[in-house]
Amino acid sequence: MSVIFQTLVNKGKTHLFKKLLNGSQSTCECLYSRKSSGIAKKFLSFDEVVAQRRAEAKRSIVVQVNSEASFSELYGYCSKYADVNGIHHYKNTAEEHFMLIEFSSEENSKAAFQSCSSHQKDLDIMALNSPFLWFRAAAGKKETYAAHSATLATVNGIECVDEDSLFKDLMNCETVSEQIQLLYDRTILNDLGARLRYMVARQIECVLESLYANIAVRPFGSSINGFGKMGCDLDLVLTNTVTEEMSQPGRRLVYQDKRAEGGRAPWARHMQCVAELLELRVAGARRVQRILNARVPIVKFAHHYTDLECDLCYNNMSGVYMSELLWQLGSLDARVRPLTVAVRRWASATGLTNPHPGRWITNFPLTLMVLFFLQQKTTDGFVLPTLKSLVRRAGKEDVRVAEENLNCTFLRDMNKLPPECYSQNEANLQTLLLQFFEFYAQFDFQEKAISINEGIPIRKPNAQPLYIVNPLEQALNVSRNVSFEECERLKSEVRNAAWQLDAGLDRQKGDDWGLVGLIEQKTTRGLKKLLRAGNSHRLVSVKDLFNDSDESEPQDNLRSKLE
Ligand code: GTP
Ligand code: MG
Repeated sequence: MSVIFQTLVNKGKTHLFKKLLNGSQSTCECLYSRKSSGIAKKFLSFDEVVAQRRAEAKRSIVVQVNSEASFSELYGYCSKYADVNGIHHYKNTAEEHFMLIEFSSEENSKAAFQSCSSHQKDLDIMALNSPFLWFRAAAGKKETYAAHSATLATVNGIECVDEDSLFKDLMNCETVSEQIQLLYDRTILNDLGARLRYMVARQIECVLESLYANIAVRPFGSSINGFGKMGCDLDLVLTNTVTEEMSQPGRRLVYQDKRAEGGRAPWARHMQCVAELLELRVAGARRVQRILNARVPIVKFAHHYTDLECDLCYNNMSGVYMSELLWQLGSLDARVRPLTVAVRRWASATGLTNPHPGRWITNFPLTLMVLFFLQQKTTDGFVLPTLKSLVRRAGKEDVRVAEENLNCTFLRDMNKLPPECYSQNEANLQTLLLQFFEFYAQFDFQEKAISINEGIPIRKPNAQPLYIVNPLEQALNVSRNVSFEECERLKSEVRNAAWQLDAGLDRQKGDDWGLVGLIEQKTTRGLKKLLRAGNSHRLVSVKDLFNDSDESEPQDNLRSKLE
């Protein structure tokens, strides 16, 4: 990384380095300050990024509008009440238009909230405070607003990339490294995608904070770990923290407790209540499912306004710390995230991963496999340090203990990492991807386990087909669900990929060269061949095949009243 950084600094292109380092996911992960001695870089910590995102959500609202053209009127209207920082437009799959408005401060946004009204005088609907709103068409004569030169910060901001144009552009790249970077830039969760995820968390938090003290709802998993793609699911965790200060014995007035009585574990009962609240009080939450007998009770739901499939669990802080660890390792070197995104995409195309849970590998252990590969000390040197080295350097400010007394302590401030922990390896993405497949094509899955704590293969403690040590709970295997057959398939697919990539590195090799052949869905390959052979007239659009049969929504009603 230091080499890339130095080269770009020398060329005066630090903005490019910043983009490489952060991806398009967040603009606030890394800061640069110019010192007399040159440019010093400073990593923001995960906690700082999360705090910024949460604060951003607290001063934002999401407003349903009639169309993109409503911007000017909405801007004029909202500016009457509060200073607007920026407005982002998007559409959901139901083709409804929304604008995410960020005000300049939380204080400032309160004035906008105070100006909101409720839907209508309907006894069936109880009034609700929420950051999700709609913009009513002006009654009677249109209001006039002060002239402004503001423009939308984002238009159609969460539209997933068009696969045909992505593949076309991938075919036109010059190198496989360029293809990997392009895939990453086009598919990684963008700024608006991240903002909306924090808005959903904030919306639920607003409902729950009137019932529970010290409550927080935070996104975790691929929504925040730096490896999520546009449209990825939203994992949410609900926490209820009593700070040390609050439990000081000197505080003599203490709230009376309310214990949850009855058969079920107390938190399963509270999650039952949360599920009810999602159904009754969270606008846009639909298809609420309760999975309350699991070790970690989960409530699943779909969020209509943002098109997000959400999993809400309670107190799973180890999941958050795990996301933090992945985010940190991803931010250490500009190649980690693009490489991981390419591997995740390849695994999905080959059918190794599958959105449904089962006896196959999932994205999380697959990501650990990439990180582990990047820790290997090849002749070029390693790309990433081991977790052991981050744990060794942790200070008392890094101590974190998750549920069930799980120690999740490791160095958080990457600025404290000594130079020997940074990569000396200068291999490009193409080389790394090929080496990744070759590494696992030769890996002794029968005898060895993968451990990012150690950074070297370790002896398997049992005969589970695929053994990937849980970095924060080393006695556990995060891939214990993977069957013998699926592990065999993984071995054969990495061998095939190594062979296919090695043979197709040259772009003269045809349409499927480089990354294209690896990430093309096997099921669509035949279809593409047909298209290339000029049989397109026989193909019917998938949209035409699946009629839009979504439940009819009161939205139809609302549409006519929207501005
Ligand atoms: P996709 O949802 O497939 O995009 O990836 P994801 O990274 O979000 O994975 P998933 O939804 O399966 O899990 C969410 C997060 O939970 C992961 O990113 C991890 O941070 C964490 N996680 C997953 N499995 C485990 C586990 O076995 N132990 C712990 N402590 N955390 C886990
Ligand atoms: Mg997830």
